[in-house]
Amino acid sequence: MDELRDRVRRVVRQVIMEMVARGDEPVVDEPAVRRPLLIANWKMHMNAASTRDFARRFEAPPGGVEVVVCPPCVLLPVLADALGAGTQVRLGAQDLHPAPQGAHTGEHGGPMLRDAGARYVLVGHSERRRAGEDDALIRDKLLAAEAAGLVPVLCVGEGEAERSAGATMRVLRGQLTAALAGRGAVQLDPAAFVIAYEPLWAIGTGRTASAAEAQEAVAFLRERLAELFSWGFARRVRMLYGGSAGPDNAVKLTAMADIDGLLVGGASLDPDTFGRMASALAGSKEEP
Ligand code: PGA
Repeated sequence: MDELRDRVRRVVRQVIMEMVARGDEPVVDEPAVRRPLLIANWKMHMNAASTRDFARRFEAPPGGVEVVVCPPCVLLPVLADALGAGTQVRLGAQDLHPAPQGAHTGEHGGPMLRDAGARYVLVGHSERRRAGEDDALIRDKLLAAEAAGLVPVLCVGEGEAERSAGATMRVLRGQLTAALAGRGAVQLDPAAFVIAYEPLWAIGTGRTASAAEAQEAVAFLRERLAELFSWGFARRVRMLYGGSAGPDNAVKLTAMADIDGLLVGGASLDPDTFGRMASALAGSKEEP
């Protein structure tokens, strides 16, 4: 797999150099460099004490992996404070309201999440879709995230019955298209937009998608993005897999060409386990 990837890179580089030498406009360019990304979704877990303990014990791997932790909102300032100013770890939120502020009891707007230290936000997580979020709301939340200067992590995924019925790609296409409806690539920065493929049957079940299944779905999403916008856009967007990801399957999953990282629930609560995953990701995406 690595060998093949290297050979492709060498050939592409060679073609570009020959074209440049001839004075032609290159029609192909180098593969996009997408920084590996590992996101923790703590869901409704942890408290101030365990958050401080996590910050003390978690060791970010050296190198290029970007690590984001999405605690419950109330713990954002605790985590920011415990990690300290010099930390490499970024903060994220698990959801946001589509309005920046207002009379929305119990909700959080993008600007206040950013003010509390968040730089990323999950949008359309299946646990929120299950609680009633529809495509139109998810689309508005994406826009609200961007307006607040937060990087949205759009979560998509099929249910078990949909996969058994052979409808996986149709579901993914529908969710992605609806979330981006009415948008042009100019309005969206590919470097500040992340997609997480999270099959519902794998979330919190201990049943992970195989690396081949995850790669197939993620590659399909990238192709669909290219159809909607352009290949130049799609190749720069980072795509994650999520659903019972852990230290034992992290390497296999992230060795796949289109999988740039993982969105991790249960296994992100323990700093040592999550640290092992960060190292695994660093290893599998390392340039030879
Ligand atoms: P899990 O959750 O890793 O516990 O399956 C993933 C998610 O819901 O983001």
